[in-house]
Amino acid sequence: MIVLGIETSCDETGVAIYDSEQGLLADCLYSQIEIHAKYGGVIPELASRDHILKTLPLIHEVVAKAGIQLSDIGGIAYTAGPGLIGALLVGASIGRSLGMALDVPTLGVHHMEGHLLAPMLEAEPPQFPFVALLVSGGHTQLVEVEGIGRYQLLGESLDDAAGEAFDKVGKMLGLPYPGGPNVAKLAQQGTPEKFKFPRPMTNRPGLDFSFSGLKTFVRNTIAEYRDENDELDEQIRADIARGFEEAVVATLTIKCRRALQQTGLRTLIIAGGVSANIELRKGLEAMVAKDLEKRDSKGKLFYAQAKYCTDNGAMIAYAGCQRLMAGQKDDLEIRAQPRWSLESLPAI
Ligand code: KG4
Ligand code: ZN
Repeated sequence: MIVLGIETSCDETGVAIYDSEQGLLADCLYSQIEIHAKYGGVIPELASRDHILKTLPLIHEVVAKAGIQLSDIGGIAYTAGPGLIGALLVGASIGRSLGMALDVPTLGVHHMEGHLLAPMLEAEPPQFPFVALLVSGGHTQLVEVEGIGRYQLLGESLDDAAGEAFDKVGKMLGLPYPGGPNVAKLAQQGTPEKFKFPRPMTNRPGLDFSFSGLKTFVRNTIAEYRDENDELDEQIRADIARGFEEAVVATLTIKCRRALQQTGLRTLIIAGGVSANIELRKGLEAMVAKDLEKRDSKGKLFYAQAKYCTDNGAMIAYAGCQRLMAGQKDDLEIRAQPRWSLESLPAI
């Protein structure tokens, strides 16, 4: 089955063509970063308007790139939530209308399921069951995954998501939006362990997260080191970025280790924008090797290539294809849900 995937939940218009026989045929992405950068964050109305302009031309582009005709498409998957309601409605309306015009089934896909399944696009995909750490701009969740739609939430952030904390710290450090990759870049110049920021909620049991205290700690540290002209020394700035990144990586690593121990599982996958972070990958890789060595068993860490960690159409096309092939499809109502629990999804 050839599936067109459409992602418009936030500030990226992503479209892709996934073929159940041949894999990913093509994907195209348009990022709105420039539009939102001058405001320091995503402006929902501007996001929706731009998705309206970009989605159809991108669909034509991806169809041409895949070397297929519109009539070859056997199903359409679009992100139906969670996300910005106006932005979601653009993808949902275009997906549903095109589905009706082509007379093919359509399906609203859960954005975080898309992220969770993105490592399946790699040449060596993980096997179920596994523990998934979902770390994006809107979510930080640990999920026990037995199969598609068989998700049990083990823990989540009680306040800011990991990516959100990266973005806010980026802003505090005067870095352009989005903060995550820029904080990571600046952190490379920082002195390791110069600042030891708190590892929130790691000294008590449980798998929930909280990043808002860490963010405040960083804000106070920045204030403390500002000189009389309100300037921050360049090296101190990099050291703070490094200390923050170290704290996030250590916190996520401790919780992932706990989740693997609690579930007895050996495979860990990471997905979502923050899973593109190199230090996080390194930290988790080392933990998985060491922890499983103790358990005398083989384990492994999986993640998608960087362009499929952040928002993209390929993950939506893949997730949609699995569900459409299982016979799932939309009913008559057009639904877009800004909030949507991963656990409420049906299994296939
Ligand atoms: O998954 P995603 O593209 O969108 C959401 O679903 O939210 O994630 C975006 C988030 C942003 O907060 C961004 O700053 C963060 O992922 N991010 C990173 C890195 N690349 C993207 N955070 C840390 N290090 C990175 N290399
Ligand atoms: Zn996302």
